[in-house]
Amino acid sequence: MAARASAPALGVATTFLLLLFTLCRGSSSASQELRRPPAKIGVIGAGIGGTSAAYFLRQKFGRDVQIDVFEKGEVGGRLATLNVEGKYYEAGGSVIHPLNLHMKHFVKLLGLSVPAKQGGLMGIYNGDEFVFEESSWYIWNVIKLLWNYGLNTLRMHMWVEEILDKFMRIYRYQSNDYAFSTSEALLHALGGSDFLQMLNQTIDKSMQKASFSQKFINEIVTPVMRVNYGQSASINGFVGAVSLAGAESGLWSIEGGNKLVCTGLLEASKAHLISGTVFSLEEKARQGRSGGTVKLYEVTYNSTTGLTSDLYDIILIATPLHRKIANITFHNFKPPIPEFSRPYEQIVATFLHGQINASFFGYQDPSQFSLTAIFTMENPKLFFNSLGVVSSVQNKMDPFLGSHVWKTFSADSLTEEQINLLFSSYDTVEEKKWLAYPHYSPPEKCPPVILHDHMYYLNSIECLASAMEMSAISAKNVALLAYHHWYNQTDMIDQEDLHERLKTEL
Ligand SMILES: Cc1cc2nc3c(=O)[nH]c(=O)nc-3n(C[C@H](O)[C@H](O)[C@H](O)COP(=O)(O)OP(=O)(O)OC[C@H]3O[C@@H](n4cnc5c(N)ncnc54)[C@H](O)[C@@H]3O)c2cc1C
Ligand SMILES: *[C@@H]1O[C@H](CO)[C@@H](O)[C@H](O)[C@H]1NC(C)=O
Ligand SMILES: *[C@@H]1O[C@H](CO)[C@@H](O)[C@H](O)[C@H]1NC(C)=O
Ligand SMILES: *[C@@H]1O[C@H](CO)[C@@H](O)[C@H](O)[C@H]1NC(C)=O
Ligand SMILES: *[C@@H]1O[C@H](CO)[C@@H](O)[C@H](O)[C@H]1NC(C)=O
Ligand SMILES: *[C@@H]1O[C@H](CO)[C@@H](O)[C@H](O)[C@H]1NC(C)=O
Repeated sequence: MAARASAPALGVATTFLLLLFTLCRGSSSASQELRRPPAKIGVIGAGIGGTSAAYFLRQKFGRDVQIDVFEKGEVGGRLATLNVEGKYYEAGGSVIHPLNLHMKHFVKLLGLSVPAKQGGLMGIYNGDEFVFEESSWYIWNVIKLLWNYGLNTLRMHMWVEEILDKFMRIYRYQSNDYAFSTSEALLHALGGSDFLQMLNQTIDKSMQKASFSQKFINEIVTPVMRVNYGQSASINGFVGAVSLAGAESGLWSIEGGNKLVCTGLLEASKAHLISGTVFSLEEKARQGRSGGTVKLYEVTYNSTTGLTSDLYDIILIATPLHRKIANITFHNFKPPIPEFSRPYEQIVATFLHGQINASFFGYQDPSQFSLTAIFTMENPKLFFNSLGVVSSVQNKMDPFLGSHVWKTFSADSLTEEQINLLFSSYDTVEEKKWLAYPHYSPPEKCPPVILHDHMYYLNSIECLASAMEMSAISAKNVALLAYHHWYNQTDMIDQEDLHERLKTEL
């Protein structure tokens, strides 16, 4: 109604055009033409979630809406680089799967480049010795895998492939503008109750049911969970499968740092970046022009100009709502916004330029040691999750001159004694501490995506799995959801049997 009420003097011609337009759009979207567009949308957080949301919001809502993105730290969030001796290394989210289509699209859109990856040799350490070591002879690796694990390795690839295949349905749904109102509904649309079931049980249990051997789970699956999520095979089956996909070949990253996607998307979306910390959100009722009340959200934040408040029609929260991460207070909401108490896992990424201590790993002759990636099994005496040689984001082809830059992941900062055990000599140590991803503990209950009428929570999706692509998927979902809610297009939300329907619609 607002569009007409605010322009009472428009002539017959305009009315005719409006009518024609409405008829052309079909009767189902008649309500869309009557609703005023939102004036301002606020996005809290400029990680990959918030910045890709700004991009998708711009696509959906058009060029007139003002989009403000609040960021208290650096644009990129958990995508960040760390300076080690003048070169930059990925300290947070580092690898991207070849089938992560949103990330691929962003890279193309922004004209970023993807350098060639260099290979290396991997070993799995149980705390006393290596239970598996890759050699540079491919056939020998295949024989060793068959000998140790039978057909488990091959079957795992097929198992992950099957899950990935269903997961890829999301791109079809999203390109047809369908949205989901909960993380569980999104997951269900991809893989039905089988996928929901994976949220309720551990990856250990999921794979046991699919008759993988316990030896394989302990020696191959668990080390992958440790390197990707700093947790054991007791994480939920879905994030476990995502994690296994994240150990496949063909992984890539962005030259100059993955965070360049975030700065690029912010620019492409013509959003306005506000450097400041959001402290609180409050629902406000204002008198609308046509007499009724309009509900708005007041954002209170601290920037260089001091404490400020601004009003928005729609709010997207693109950060984990965890007191130690975002600490946002919600005032005057009915019903109140609950406290989300999901713990986040602390992970310390330590970068060390030095020479590894091969004798720590049981090598008599250090010159025989040629591994560049060490995964670990569950063992209480181990003080690190993984250890690997890394290349800088500027030039992936750093010359290997004896000593390398190694990156370790551990639950706590490494002590000097621990570093002296792992390395026989070193020059530089730099660390970055993260509250990295949720602590997964099935059965998972995901926090809501819709926090209030027009207030959304992107990071709900992290309960399924935390990854760059997951945040981008959630960003597009929430942009679509916000749009359909705004224009009351309920037939685009939580539709059943989308997979079948889109097949026949083609
Ligand atoms: C060590 C590590 C390794 C990882 N490895 C991979 C990997 O290899 N591949 C992969 O796909 N994923 C990986 N991930 C996960 C991936 O990085 C995250 O899932 C993803 O970056 C999350 O993006 P986001 O935008 O949802 O959240 P974030 O990046 O956390 O963004 C939230 C932003 O909100 C800001 N913010 C918070 N509170 C406020 C406030 N009150 N006011 C204003 N701003 C606020 C924060 O400063 C932050 O910038 C890894 C993560 C870590 C930590
Ligand atoms: C998963 O567990 C929850 C309880 O935690 C239950 O409500 C839900 O029905 C279960 N889902 C499936 C698919 O088993
Ligand atoms: C708000 O910002 C000002 C300056 O930017 C700073 O001095 C002050 O400590 C901040 N207040 C809070 C509560 O963070
Ligand atoms: C969160 O903010 C409130 C006040 O806004 C403060 O009292 C509390 O100490 C903060 N909590 C953390 C963990 O920073
Ligand atoms: C290397 O590892 C061995 C075996 O754990 C240990 O005795 C030694 O102190 C470590 N450090 C160096 C510098 O060799
Ligand atoms: C939204 O649409 C539904 C049916 O599609 C209708 O029943 C409802 O009244 C509409 N609500 C508003 C606020 O227009």
